[in-house]
Amino acid sequence: MINIAILGYGTVGSGVYRVFSTNHEVVESRLGERIHVKYVLDLRDFPGDPVTEVLVHDFQIILDDPEVSIVAEVMGGTGAAYTFTKKALEAGKSVCTSNKALVAEHGRELMKIAKEKGVSYLFEASCGGGIPIIRAINDSFTADVIDEVAGILNGTTNYMLYRMGEDGSSFDEALKEAQAMGYAEADPTADVEGHDACRKIAILSTLAYGKYIDYRDVPTEGITKITIEDMKYAEAAGARIKLLGLSRDTAEGTTAIVAPFLVDKSESLYNVNDVFNGIYVHGNMLGDAMFYGSGAGMLPTASAVSADIVDAALHLSKTIRTNWTDEAAHMVDPGEACWKFFVRTKAAAQEMAEGLFPGGSVIRIPECPDETAFITPLMRQRDFDAAISKLGEDAVSVIRVYQRA
Ligand code: HSE
Repeated sequence: MINIAILGYGTVGSGVYRVFSTNHEVVESRLGERIHVKYVLDLRDFPGDPVTEVLVHDFQIILDDPEVSIVAEVMGGTGAAYTFTKKALEAGKSVCTSNKALVAEHGRELMKIAKEKGVSYLFEASCGGGIPIIRAINDSFTADVIDEVAGILNGTTNYMLYRMGEDGSSFDEALKEAQAMGYAEADPTADVEGHDACRKIAILSTLAYGKYIDYRDVPTEGITKITIEDMKYAEAAGARIKLLGLSRDTAEGTTAIVAPFLVDKSESLYNVNDVFNGIYVHGNMLGDAMFYGSGAGMLPTASAVSADIVDAALHLSKTIRTNWTDEAAHMVDPGEACWKFFVRTKAAAQEMAEGLFPGGSVIRIPECPDETAFITPLMRQRDFDAAISKLGEDAVSVIRVYQRA
C-alpha cells in the first residue's frame, strides 16, 4: 500500500480524492499496490463529507509521517504551497501538483531539491488540464527538436470567448459562468489578463526546448479589450479570436508571447472551443502534432494529478527524468518578432492608415459601417508599434494574426 496526502480540499483536491475512491481497483491493478489517501489537509471542516475521516489541519502531521511517500499539492498560490512543497521534498516525499504559478515561480529550486533527495516533483496538471502534454514532451518527443508550441492553454478564457461569440454573452456573464463551472482561478484576473497562460507557456517551452524560460520574460496580453465587434470582424475574415500562448525556438533565440490572436479556420486550433484546450507542437522530424482535451475543471485536472501520483508510486525513491533545465534561454527581443496585425480604425483615419500600412487586406462588417479595418502584411512588432502610435485615438483595436512559423 502506498500512502499519500492531499494538500487542499478545494476543486482539484476533492477531485483527486474522488479519483482514488472511484478508480481504486483499476489503479491497483496497474500499479500492483493500493493508493491510500491517508490525509487531506485543509483549514476548513467538511461536516458530513467522508473526507472528515482523514482530514487534518496541521501540515506537520503529514511531514512527520514516514509512511506518506507522495504529496499532492493542490492548494494553489505561491505562499504556503511553496513552503509545504519544499518541506515535503526535503523530507524525501515526491510532490505532484497542478500549481502552475508555483512551478513557474519556484520550479527551478523545487526540481533541484527533488533531484538531491532522489524523489520527483511532477506537474502534468499545471498545463492543459487533463491533456497529457508534459508527459508527451518529456517522454515521446525524445528524438525530435521542437521548434514551435502554440496553445489554447486557458480554459476559462476559451470558454468566455466561445460564449461571447456563440450567443452574444457579455464578458461579465461569461466569466461568471466559467467561475460557476470551477474553471477560473481564485482570482480570475490571472485568467482574463493572460497570466495563467503565461505561466503555462513558460513551463511548456522550458520542457520543449530544454532551456529555462522565465515567465517574466513573456510579453502578456489578456482578453479584456476584446469586443463582440472584434469577433464579428474575425468571423468575416474566416477566423476566430483565441488567447494563445505561443513560443518559437530558432537559431536566433526563443520568442514567446501570450495574446489574443485571429486564428484562421484552416488551423486545428480554430476548432478548439468551449473549455477545451489545444496545444499544437511542431518538431523537426515529427512535423505537426496536436493535443486536445478538457483544459480546466475538477476531474480533468484531478485526473492529471492522479496520473502523476501513480507515476511517482511506480518510481518511489527515484527522480523521474524530465527535460527541465536551469540553463536560461536566449530570448529574442519582442520588438523583432514578425506578425500580421488586424487593425480597426475610425473612418476619419482611413487615408492615414492606408499610408502607414500599405498592402492591407480590407475587412468590412455591416455592424461597423464607419470604420476601416484591415489585416496588415507581415511586419516587425517594432515597426508596427511605431506606425500605430501615429494613429493615436483613431486606432480602435489591434489583434495579431496567428500564422505558423
Ligand atoms: N483557470 C485555469 C484555466 C484552470 O481556466 O485554464 C486550469 O489550469
